[in-house]
This record gives sequence, structure tokens and C-alpha cells, in this order.
Amino acid sequence: MTEVKNKQVILRDYVTGFPKETDLKIVEGTIILNIPEGSNHVLLKNLYLSCDPFMRNLMNKKDGPKDTLSYTPGYALGGFGVSKVVESGDPKYKKGDLVWGFTQWEEYSLVPSPKILFKIEHTDVPLTYYTGILGMPGVTAYAGLYEVGSLKKGENVFVSAASGAVGQLVGQFAKLADCYVVGSAGTKEKVDLLKNKFGFDDGFNYKEEPDLNAALKRYFPEGIDVYFENVGGKTLDAVLLNMRVHGRIPACGMISQYNLTEHEGVTNLTSIIYKRIRIEGFNSSDYYHLYPKFLEFVLPHIREGKIVYVEDIAEGLENGPSALVGLFSGQNVGKQVLVVAHE
Ligand SMILES: NC(=O)c1ccc[n+]([C@@H]2O[C@H](COP(=O)([O-])OP(=O)(O)OC[C@H]3O[C@@H](n4cnc5c(N)ncnc54)[C@H](OP(=O)(O)O)[C@@H]3O)[C@@H](O)[C@H]2O)c1
Repeated sequence: MTEVKNKQVILRDYVTGFPKETDLKIVEGTIILNIPEGSNHVLLKNLYLSCDPFMRNLMNKKDGPKDTLSYTPGYALGGFGVSKVVESGDPKYKKGDLVWGFTQWEEYSLVPSPKILFKIEHTDVPLTYYTGILGMPGVTAYAGLYEVGSLKKGENVFVSAASGAVGQLVGQFAKLADCYVVGSAGTKEKVDLLKNKFGFDDGFNYKEEPDLNAALKRYFPEGIDVYFENVGGKTLDAVLLNMRVHGRIPACGMISQYNLTEHEGVTNLTSIIYKRIRIEGFNSSDYYHLYPKFLEFVLPHIREGKIVYVEDIAEGLENGPSALVGLFSGQNVGKQVLVVAHE
């Protein structure tokens, strides 16, 4: 039995309000590189970890029954990642396979086999993409836009947090359907990316718009057909006034609310009736059955350079806390990835 050092990022204590780097801690543990007799567990060497906004919710102390994914102080965070199989108790996987799915924020993880979502079959594209465009955020953008948002060719599309892991894909996928696409983001650099790299028709810095309703009227004089909701709060309120009749709002996330102890109110709800708006929340995990179809759609576009993907790469588990916490101040430019080890 080989025992090796296993660096981890653990939760120090439950979090209220905005998370801080000091809410997380790097510890040096150990792990035995063997599968317990008779178990279906898989031993993974973690390569790339995904920094995702939903991880904030898992840091809350829950009053009611605990979500199975919720974090426990003193233990490593869990999240999506790309890993290499070291040893497997499940015949579906063998040593050397590359996989993506749910793992732990540490160098090596022993995970129950069902936590692995997919074996990686295409390695001619960057492996880090399986934390983003070819992973959970990719499925989210695809399913949110086409399945939940029922996007039609040529419609007017608005997306918030538009330069991020999901947003940059929403805009590019909508452009493939000849839509008019505008995004909002929090810096000039990000807005420039929307227009010059991702091919959005336009974009604006929401932090520099004192009146979001007026800004949306300027960009959408005829109204919005599909609003891909990533932020919630004031943006959602202003969007409701600017939706077209029979508009759709796939509610993907509301990051502006995740760290507030009292959530902001949304006041323009009567628009939902007058304009017959459909607002539908969704979770990427409901759509993994579409993954093979999604890969067939997206891989050729990546290979032909018709879809690009911007990543923000942090190196080393030591930089995990700042990379994760940075999502909530907009520090990341593109998909935030954390490198644990290169293959
Ligand atoms: N339903 C699902 O299955 C699912 C799956 C994946 C993601 N999501 C949700 O989708 C959204 C985007 O996730 P992502 O992974 O693509 O993250 P991301 O956009 O790559 O990173 C988060 C970004 O959110 C923006 N932000 C942070 N605080 C904000 C605030 N108070 N107001 C407005 N914007 C703020 C920042 O960009 P700026 O600089 O532009 O402010 C930040 O860079 C999140 O709400 C997330 O929870 C949902």
C-alpha cells in the first residue's frame, strides 16, 4: 500500500455574507493509493478544478436537512473537475482514463464511481475545456438557451455575466442562430471581449449604467425575446420592463444575491402577466442526457474556430481560495480554472 501526501483546500467554517480567502485553508493530508477491497470507488489524480458560483451555497450552514453536496468544516471542498484514473473498483474505468465529474479539492480523491459523469473521449482540444465549454457550463448554456429558452432564429437575446464561463457561450450560441445579442459585464475589458472576441452585437458595463432600464431600452428598442438570467436582482427587475410579449427567461443563476443576507426584491412582476413571459429555473444536471448531442454540436465549432473560449487559469491548489472567492467580485476574466497538476 502506497501512502502519499495529499494537499487539500478545506472549509474552515460555515460562511455568511461574502466569502473570504481566509474561510478556506490549505492543509497537507495523506492518502493511500489503493481501492478498498470490494468497493466501486475510483481513485483519481485531479488535474483541473472548476471554480463555480454554486459552491458558495454549499458553504452555508443549513438549518434543515443537509444537501448531500454541502461542505463540512474541516473537510475538502467538492466540485467539478478533470481527473486521471489511478485505479478503479468499477470496470467502466481503467487506469489512465481521463474523466470529468464531481471530485474533491485535493491532489488525489477516492470517489464513488457514480460521481464521475463522463469519460473524456476527445483529447485534441484543451483538457481544461472539460471544466467549461465541454463540461457543466457548456451543457448549461446549451440547454438553457435551446431547451429552456426555446430560442428561435433571429431573436433578440440579452445575457448577464456575459463574459463568464456560461455567458460567453450563451452569446456565441445565440449568434450561431443569427440572433441579435447584447451582454452585460462588470469591466471595460470584459465588454471589449464580448464585442471583439465573442462576436456579440453589443455590450455594456452594468456598473457604469445608473439606470439599467434606460440602458436596456437603448440596446433593445424593440424589446428582448430571451433573457439568459445569470445575476438576478436589479438587472432582472429592469429586464422585466424590456421583455417582448411571449418572451422567455431561462433562470440559470442569480449571483448578485448569493452573498446577501437579505435578498433584493424584484418589483416589476406584473410584466410577467401583461407580456405573457415564461420564467423557468433549471439545473444543468437535468440535461446531461443531452451531452452526446451537445458534443456533436460544439466540437466541430471549436475545431473550426467558430466558437472560442476564454479561460482564466490559476496555478496550484494554494491559489484555489483566491480564485474561488474572486468569482464574487468579478476578478475572473472568462472561465475560472484551477490547475492542480498538468497531466
Ligand atoms: N443552473 C445551473 O445549472 C447553472 C450552472 C452553471 C452556472 N450557473 C449560474 O450561472 C451564473 C454564471 O456562472 P459562471 O460559472 O458562468 O460564472 P462566471 O460568469 O464565470 O463568474 C461569475 C461572474 O459573475 C459576475 N458577478 C459577480 N458578482 C456579481 C454581482 N453582484 N452582480 C452582477 N454580476 C456579478 C462577475 O462578472 P462581472 O465582472 O461581469 O460582474 C463574475 O466574473 C451564476 O449565477 C451561476 O450560479 C447555473
